[in-house]
Amino acid sequence: MSNSEKVVELLQTTYMMELETVANYLANSIHLDGVQAEEIKRALAGDITEELGHAQRLAERLKQLDGRIPGSLDLERSQELLQPPEDTTNVEAVVDGVIEAEADAIAHYRKIIEATEGSDFVTQDLVIAIMADEEHHHRQFEGFRAGYQSSLATAG
Ligand SMILES: [Fe+2]
Ligand SMILES: [Fe+2]
Repeated sequence: MSNSEKVVELLQTTYMMELETVANYLANSIHLDGVQAEEIKRALAGDITEELGHAQRLAERLKQLDGRIPGSLDLERSQELLQPPEDTTNVEAVVDGVIEAEADAIAHYRKIIEATEGSDFVTQDLVIAIMADEEHHHRQFEGFRAGYQSSLATAG
């Protein structure tokens, strides 16, 4: 496989990951219940547009590189931790799922940055910009998790 084919494949994977994230943030932004859930639901609802925008920019880049943009039947699914929890007040499970999904996204974008080094600066530039958004999301939800842990410690 040539390097540019590898880049196309990596872009297709991250495109699918972004769409799965959209589906799960959308579901969880409505699914959760409780006072604690409100802030998380608001953050997730706000991120839907941003993640969809990532998918759009990745699809545009795929088009420029003559790569196929995956249709719905091509989409692979893997975000087990982000499935809406059975207990609708289990906010922490969703926070953990978001942290994992964002870390996974960051790791995949890092792969693309490495694969494009010295060869495809436009893709690299795009991916660095998206990665900055994911780092922001990751940090934000790490903050939410730290908040729970300290409130649990106080309650206990
Ligand atoms: Fe994203
Ligand atoms: Fe994100």
